[in-house]
Amino acid sequence: MGKKIDFGVVGLGVMGRSLALNMIDRGLVVGGADLTTDLVDAFVNEGGESALGFRTAHDLISAIERPRKLLMMVPAGPAVDSVLDDLYKVLEPGDVVIDGGNSKYQDTQRRVEAAEQFGVLYVGAGVSGGEEGARHGPSIMPSGSEIAWDLIKSNLQSIAARGPDGQPCCDWLGGGGCGHAVKTIHNGIEYAFMQAICEIYAILNMHPGTTPDQLADLFGAWNTGHMKCFLLEITEQIFRVNDPFQDGKLVNSVLDEAKQKGTGKWTAEMALDLGVPCPTLAEAVFARGVSSRRSIRDQLAEVSAKYPNPDQDLNIESDDLKDALFASVVIAFAQGLDLISSASAEHGWEVRLDRVAKLWRAGCIIRIDFLDQISQAMQGIGSSHLLLDPWFSKHVAAALPGLRRTVSVAAQSGIGIPVLSSALSYYDTIHASRLPHNLLQAQRDAFGAHSYRRNDREGDFHTDWLGDGSTSKLK
Ligand code: 6PG
Repeated sequence: MGKKIDFGVVGLGVMGRSLALNMIDRGLVVGGADLTTDLVDAFVNEGGESALGFRTAHDLISAIERPRKLLMMVPAGPAVDSVLDDLYKVLEPGDVVIDGGNSKYQDTQRRVEAAEQFGVLYVGAGVSGGEEGARHGPSIMPSGSEIAWDLIKSNLQSIAARGPDGQPCCDWLGGGGCGHAVKTIHNGIEYAFMQAICEIYAILNMHPGTTPDQLADLFGAWNTGHMKCFLLEITEQIFRVNDPFQDGKLVNSVLDEAKQKGTGKWTAEMALDLGVPCPTLAEAVFARGVSSRRSIRDQLAEVSAKYPNPDQDLNIESDDLKDALFASVVIAFAQGLDLISSASAEHGWEVRLDRVAKLWRAGCIIRIDFLDQISQAMQGIGSSHLLLDPWFSKHVAAALPGLRRTVSVAAQSGIGIPVLSSALSYYDTIHASRLPHNLLQAQRDAFGAHSYRRNDREGDFHTDWLGDGSTSKLK
């Protein structure tokens, strides 16, 4: 008999292999299974003595002592159910299965319950950080069957990234599919964060003679203090890469049509389903959609060649742009955390937002210095809104004039900035104690008799707005 296997990994694609090798680096013996023989061979070659390869999940499971610990890294969707169908034929009560893919949280909720009939302890774990993170330290967001946590905690925490205080960016988030919900919303914030940087780039690019090296220098210079973050770091690096086929920088030759795998859309869907306003997160998804409408864009650009005006020198300071980015990114986080809080209340997950912020401090794509601050803020105000926290309230208010000037200059110059302008509108409306929705309620009542409430007395009312103005109290 060979070595005792500590952990099994089913699916040895990029993420599965990287996580398996990360485990091996932490002293674990890992059994890996994949239907593609080349992937198994590559894993065994790279992992050395502590990597054992198997052709099928069956073979792998038979080689692991109970209670077994299995990490599934297969594409989200039907593939997960089909692998699970196979696994349940051989797994035994007390075994643990972790889905580390980007699964829809509703699927994970269903799978956690379904696993119970087999006595299997099911965990849905959001994993962020891409290939590099998976290999050397991702952020891991687990939830599901809590009994499993004791069995897998030390293994998962050993492979996770570490926050500035040395704590692992992996902790138990709660029951059901909340880990995947949190990861989905992480991606929703990721979409908005990336889009905000791209919109600043669109504005900077309008300055005649702006070079990619200047852009790299600027984004690099911003990557400090509270704004120190992974996405600014990679943005600087991207602007410095030369085009392998011609003079100039590669980024200028990349087709400007964004793809997406669906997690941003799921975030927007979740927000709509739960009635939580996350316009900035949703705008980032729509912005990708607009970018991919190539033919329509080209046709419309022909007929509206006036904007953006390429000869115009934009009157905007780089400090304003930096403030605009800071404020928009905080607002994206505020919306995402609000959504997590509402989803948690809806499903009874009891997710701690301070813990979520801690898990995002390192390893994940949206890591940014002020997450430490978010974690402290969320301890203080629990599930309340991030913009109610004194530190964020003060710093976003200070950055707001810059965001206003940025949005205004872009609007006047015909540069579309859906995320920055949505962040500003969100800020202004969420801070307004009086909104024009008294009129909207009156409109609804006028054409549909939907009723309205008054601001000075209890009850629901209906008025014959388009007739004699008579009003009745409904209850
Ligand atoms: C992460 C990333 C990762 C993946 C995105 C890409 O946290 O490591 O979010 O999960 O890169 O899902 O999503 P799109 O293809 O939709 O941009």
